[in-house]
Amino acid sequence: MIGASISRWTMSYFAMAVGWLLAAQAIMVAGFGFPAADIASPDTLVLVHVVSIGWLSTAMCGGLFQFVPVLTAKPLFAEKWALPALGLLTAGLTTLLAGFLALGGRLPDGLWLLPAGAFLLVAGFGLIIVDLGLTSWLRPTGPTRFILVGLASLCATVTFGTVFAVALVSCSGSTCATMLDAGVPLHAIAGVGGWLTLTAMGVSYRLLSMFMLSPDVDDRTSGTTLLAGALATAVAVAGGIIAVALSSGMNVILSIAAALGLATIALYGRDVIAIFRARRRRQLELNIRMAALSFVSLGGTALLGVMLVLTGNFAAHVGAFVYLVVFGWLSGLVLAKLYKIVAFLTWLETYGPVMGRSPTPRVQDLVAEERASKWFVTYHAAVWVGMLMLLADQPSAFRATAMAMAIGTIGIVREVVRTRRLADVADPLRLPGGAREPHLLFARN
Ligand code: HEM
Repeated sequence: MIGASISRWTMSYFAMAVGWLLAAQAIMVAGFGFPAADIASPDTLVLVHVVSIGWLSTAMCGGLFQFVPVLTAKPLFAEKWALPALGLLTAGLTTLLAGFLALGGRLPDGLWLLPAGAFLLVAGFGLIIVDLGLTSWLRPTGPTRFILVGLASLCATVTFGTVFAVALVSCSGSTCATMLDAGVPLHAIAGVGGWLTLTAMGVSYRLLSMFMLSPDVDDRTSGTTLLAGALATAVAVAGGIIAVALSSGMNVILSIAAALGLATIALYGRDVIAIFRARRRRQLELNIRMAALSFVSLGGTALLGVMLVLTGNFAAHVGAFVYLVVFGWLSGLVLAKLYKIVAFLTWLETYGPVMGRSPTPRVQDLVAEERASKWFVTYHAAVWVGMLMLLADQPSAFRATAMAMAIGTIGIVREVVRTRRLADVADPLRLPGGAREPHLLFARN
């Protein structure tokens, strides 16, 4: 990444995303939505979209605005779109959430907010998909191919979501209800699997190699993993639409998609182990050790899914399964990478301009890993115990684990803010001749 320009609004995306994560945790601690309410209830839809759009999608997009130009060695197609897109996503999500509250009868006469929120989200995600898609297209190799498949899946997710939002206000009757019911798993698989998981995998190849000084995974090898993942998403989405149109059951399609999903996780595991084995940096930094915990959650997800299917309990415990995917695997990985990326970008922004002219600190001098590690461990332990409480149908104990998860997250966020403020850099090196303190919420590029 050295030599690449710094994306001005990545920090703003990260800050907004973290705000939504804390909001989601407050919602869980308060006992709003699943598991206190039904998994398909409007209250749960509020929680699901605060996490999937507010936290994970916003953090991912912020990271990609920095990362895609580095991967392609080309500037973004339209740098200027990043901030309006963030505004549209935030306004769209807030409106959509109000629409869900209206759907649940908590806001009177507000059903129109559902399509209004959807259209704002289409505009925001649309700008991001065109901007990142056209830039990635310039060099479709390695991780960039994962990003392209991820963006295509985001298109499918947003399209499904918009159709649902319009259908919920404009169409009643049993045919519509059946189609909505059948479509929700396809929307969820395209979003959590195709968009978030495949993009996270693609980005992780590069970040792991970079921060462990490992050679990049060969394109053909990672291409097999991507093929399995892309097929899993395509089978679920296209096969699912055909199954809905023919009014046939969804079981065969979802079983094929699940088998391909398992193959994707196994192949990804193979690639990650190869990166670890080939590393030249023997001492693992905290972000890598914590990313490893999220890989454990990903493996745990595969195991849990297989066990639940074999025992005929998948439908009853789908909430615990999704919880582990979203908080153990995806959020765990994003938090670990956020911790490192903020340090790295802050270091580049502050010390890049004076490098060679004054002594500067190392990237690692911006962080206090020992202090931060306890917050990460708290976070992951809370997620794992929380998942067990969901399996055991213990909603009150689950809320206590959500509280512990929030405490871990607040600890991590505090560390990241300290990094951005250069609070752990000793004074003579902190701002050497001419270096300027970075702004907390955006980069001065
Ligand atoms: C334009 C953006 C979006 C809109 C308008 C939207 C809208 C909706 C609606 C209306 C439902 C409920 C359908 C029903 O029960 O009848 C739903 C469910 C769901 N959405 Fe979205 N969505 C959007 C984006 C996303 C994204 C980006 C993700 C994930 C990355 C996502 C994940 C989910 C999940 C997991 C469910 C199932 C929740 C449950 O059953 O409790 N959505 N969405």
